[in-house]
Amino acid sequence: MAESIDRYAVFGNPIEHSKSPFIHTCFSEQTGQRLIYTAELVELDDFENAVARFAENNGKGLNITIPFKQAAWQLAHQCSTRAQRAGAVNTLVINDKDDYFGDNTDGIGLTRDLTINHKLQLKNKHILIVGAGGAVRGVIEPLLASEPASLTIANRTKQKAVQLAQDFADLGTIGACGLDELGDNPYDIIINGTSASLSGDLPPLPESLIHANTFCYDMMYATEATPFMRWAQQHGAANVADGKGMLVEQAAESFRIWRGCRPDTAPVIEALSKL
Ligand code: ATR
Repeated sequence: MAESIDRYAVFGNPIEHSKSPFIHTCFSEQTGQRLIYTAELVELDDFENAVARFAENNGKGLNITIPFKQAAWQLAHQCSTRAQRAGAVNTLVINDKDDYFGDNTDGIGLTRDLTINHKLQLKNKHILIVGAGGAVRGVIEPLLASEPASLTIANRTKQKAVQLAQDFADLGTIGACGLDELGDNPYDIIINGTSASLSGDLPPLPESLIHANTFCYDMMYATEATPFMRWAQQHGAANVADGKGMLVEQAAESFRIWRGCRPDTAPVIEALSKL
């Protein structure tokens, strides 16, 4: 009987611009792991069935992206504590057709990118996160674990920031406010976790948030600088970065969970920049 190749994929909607097949193909070549990784467009009402079909076709693991991370968390039979806390799953391990394990590697992806690739120290820094949606929910726990001087969540809809701060209050102190309540205090690190960049928009932010050493990071990744990155550059941020490194780092952590070996991310981040 012909040997069957382990299959992996990213499920999302939309999905056509996903870089995950490129990244995981680089990882599989680099580590000598034989696998197939594809990007699959899943209809909004078909997520659970699509996972089941994939499992029956030698699917061993999935990355989950917008808008299915919460549905994946509900579908997983067991979850890691970090996925449980986030209420969102971006990595499914398919052990059997009735045994899915859910994890969330977004948080570790962000903190590894900030601390290893961009060489930032998070401890004792004043950190602002803009946005309070699913993407932000996944990164709060590891940011708090790095012991910042303060962590503030600012969101267009203030109540969602307040709710998020309450949900993580047992792990540390989190400030919460509306965008219009951001005062004159500057921050050391400003992270844009809104989806505004996806539609070419910029959350309305006062320029007083930036001081000469501020590092501005957009969790989104686009081939050109996002509106948030341009805003940060215009107002004198010391450094500005997009979420390319986070994307590769979260993928590497998913790969490690599936295959038991961690790929080297630096050459893949570089290759992705040249696409
Ligand atoms: P995701 O899973 O990508 O986080 P989401 O849960 O829909 O997606 O959350 C999107 C986030 O981006 C929210 O914080 C949203 O603000 P609201 O809670 O007020 O909706 C924020 N957002 C999206 N577009 C924005 C814009 N143009 N300006 C400011 N915030 C924006």
